[in-house]
Amino acid sequence: AQSRAVDEVLAPLRLSRADLEKVQALMRQEMDRGLCKETNPTASVRMLPTYVTHTPDGTERGDFLALDLGGTNFRVLVVRVTEEGITMASEIYVIPATIMQGTGEALFDHILDCIIDFQMKQNLVTQMLPLGFTFSFPCQQVGLDKALLLTWTKGFSASGCVGKDVVQLLRDAAKRKQHLGMQVVALVNDTVGTMMACGYDDPKCEIGLIVGTGTNACYMEEMKNVGTVEGDQGRMCINMEWGAFGDNGCLDHLFTQFDKVVDETTINPGKQRFEKLISGMYLGEIVRQILMAMVEKQLLFKGRPCPKLQTRNIFQTKFLSTIELNGLALRQIRAILNELELDASFEDSVLMREVCQAVSLRAAQLCAAGLAAVVEKMRESRGLDQLSVTVGVDGTLYKLHPCFSDNLQKTLKDLAPKCNVTFLLSEDGSGKGAALVAAVADRAANAAK
Ligand code: BG6
Ligand code: GLC
Repeated sequence: AQSRAVDEVLAPLRLSRADLEKVQALMRQEMDRGLCKETNPTASVRMLPTYVTHTPDGTERGDFLALDLGGTNFRVLVVRVTEEGITMASEIYVIPATIMQGTGEALFDHILDCIIDFQMKQNLVTQMLPLGFTFSFPCQQVGLDKALLLTWTKGFSASGCVGKDVVQLLRDAAKRKQHLGMQVVALVNDTVGTMMACGYDDPKCEIGLIVGTGTNACYMEEMKNVGTVEGDQGRMCINMEWGAFGDNGCLDHLFTQFDKVVDETTINPGKQRFEKLISGMYLGEIVRQILMAMVEKQLLFKGRPCPKLQTRNIFQTKFLSTIELNGLALRQIRAILNELELDASFEDSVLMREVCQAVSLRAAQLCAAGLAAVVEKMRESRGLDQLSVTVGVDGTLYKLHPCFSDNLQKTLKDLAPKCNVTFLLSEDGSGKGAALVAAVADRAANAAK
């Protein structure tokens, strides 16, 4: 009876093959709508042009600064691209929550303080270096160095930034600090930075995927299919912003009561609905909601109330990853739970692992359905029977979780059998890719002089 009751709670999270095919078809529909000028304003997948028209060709050269804002860590980097390859040095800086959610001016002032500190430490104060900015939020780009912030996502909400050109906000902060040691030449999304970084090593890398704090993808689209930008020649990288897939209600049939509660308690309810089913910032919260329901149904902790479970964000991505580790003894799981002050029996530990598995499997499958729509669209546009392509991937959930990548790849193969997809882990973050984009931009700017 116990296991039937557990199955009942978890049933809405288990997706059939037909469910996934439907998600794939819906994603494809939203992609087409996002690319079309007339339907773009009502599409939940924004399909944002990035003005990146080529993946790296190995001729990029120079020394660059790079910023990487929007994931777990804020980084400042110096990237040296030479004939021999790429070397980098970087520093991680903290962005306190008060600054993430304070004023835009304070946020960009803080970023500048970090850049100045970094340049001092690296002895780079006397040079004026071109800078590539990885900014992992949705932007309407007008060019490589002009990007209007459409909305904040994940934990950010700094005031006075939405609708503004983020590059200008950075330049304004530099002016306030009278800092002349940098010149912002390009802004890229983290998906684009990841695709470019991996593209430096693998020319077949034409897709970027992030499954970390948030989730998103970009890919090289035929210009003739991009109705929102003039011109029909060649390709352009499109930042899909697929985290917002479903914000127009097209995925409502998938959301469980747990997903709804998680969404309602975020700072952006009703937004980033697909992301909230998949990415690291939210999975632990879904697990927590399910566990609370199970306590109430007396399936967990023998029905004893568990006040600790009321603590928001008590389960980090790391927790999901550890609890699902293959071969991890139940004794160890119990120890982890005890550390969180959850007094779990062996049976409780088994059940908790089952909940984590259901939540992370669904996340991987949904991600695969999205990716299946992307690779199938690329295959079709290029008129190929079989597409062979590489996906550059980054993000803590993808990297740390023991089963996520396997589940993703297995499901993708099943949903897009005509595509041969290789996954390439991005080793040193998307700042490297931002520098490669900056290299091309800088070269074009100098040629125009
Ligand atoms: C990093 C990138 O490696 O991956 C970031 O450089 C990106 O820009 C991040 O946002 C995604 O992972 P997470 O898990 O830190 O959000
Ligand atoms: C969020 C952002 C998006 C970013 C993704 C991964 O979805 O809106 O721009 O790529 O997180 O970091």
